[in-house]
Amino acid sequence: MKKIYGIIGDPVGHSLSPVMHNAAFKKLGLDAVYLAFRVPLEELGDAIRGAKSLGISGLNVTIPLKEKALSFVATEEVAKKIGALNTIDFSSTPTGYNTDGIGALMVLEETVGEIRGKNVLILGAGGAARAISFYLDASGAMVTLANRTEGRSAQLASNLRNANSISLGAELKNQIRDSDILINATSVGMHPKEDATLITADLMHPDLVVFDIVYNPIETKLLKEAKRAGVKKIVDGVKMLVYQGAASFKLWTKEDPPVEVMENAVTAALIR
Ligand code: ATR
Repeated sequence: MKKIYGIIGDPVGHSLSPVMHNAAFKKLGLDAVYLAFRVPLEELGDAIRGAKSLGISGLNVTIPLKEKALSFVATEEVAKKIGALNTIDFSSTPTGYNTDGIGALMVLEETVGEIRGKNVLILGAGGAARAISFYLDASGAMVTLANRTEGRSAQLASNLRNANSISLGAELKNQIRDSDILINATSVGMHPKEDATLITADLMHPDLVVFDIVYNPIETKLLKEAKRAGVKKIVDGVKMLVYQGAASFKLWTKEDPPVEVMENAVTAALIR
């Protein structure tokens, strides 16, 4: 029987996950379909219980449901620490996972190799920054968090093993000079405010790895600034989207995800 997967969120109409996962199912010849379901926050519990009753095989969970979903499904430890899940596997007892952080870690390992001992500056302290910083911290990176609302980054840093927080102001300059990796985990630069960036070229150095989790547009203002600064390793948000999706795909299907096919599907949809 055809297996059904999907994403729940609100709004969810612009999600690229259906295009990405359906391309992967097709490539591997799996009899499965991935759909988007708009679920209001107050109906989340019904939606998860209903998905189980209907025999849905797996769900992704997106904004604004990721945190509340923890109340409705047994969840692995890391996702609990992050305080949010983005994947539910219904194949046995429904279980929640968070693959956002794994996606970022995979992207960075592919770009720089070993993460242990690297100085990483993360901009932001929201859900995405939380997921990424937990994985990088656990992998032995030295994480510095800088967020507009300083209290949030200080709070997040205090929950990590080896992290500190600074302001988004004057301290940034020295911190970037001493950093190996800069990650924008805020929504700054996202369509329609494409001209916005928290960091400009004059603060960057060529050996800095610059990674933006924003994927719409694919080349954000931050990444344009990185190019201008002669940065050699620039990573866009499509990769992280694809790798978190690939990690969910692997959890659900136990198959090796066709990452390139997934990336091409996402890129084509974004360009359209
Ligand atoms: P997500 O789950 O995508 O991370 P979020 O939890 O709403 O979304 O977090 C958004 C992040 O972008 C936050 O770190 C936010 O900073 P605040 O904590 O100060 O709100 C950051 N952000 C959004 N717009 C910003 C802006 N114009 N300037 C600086 N930071 C911004």
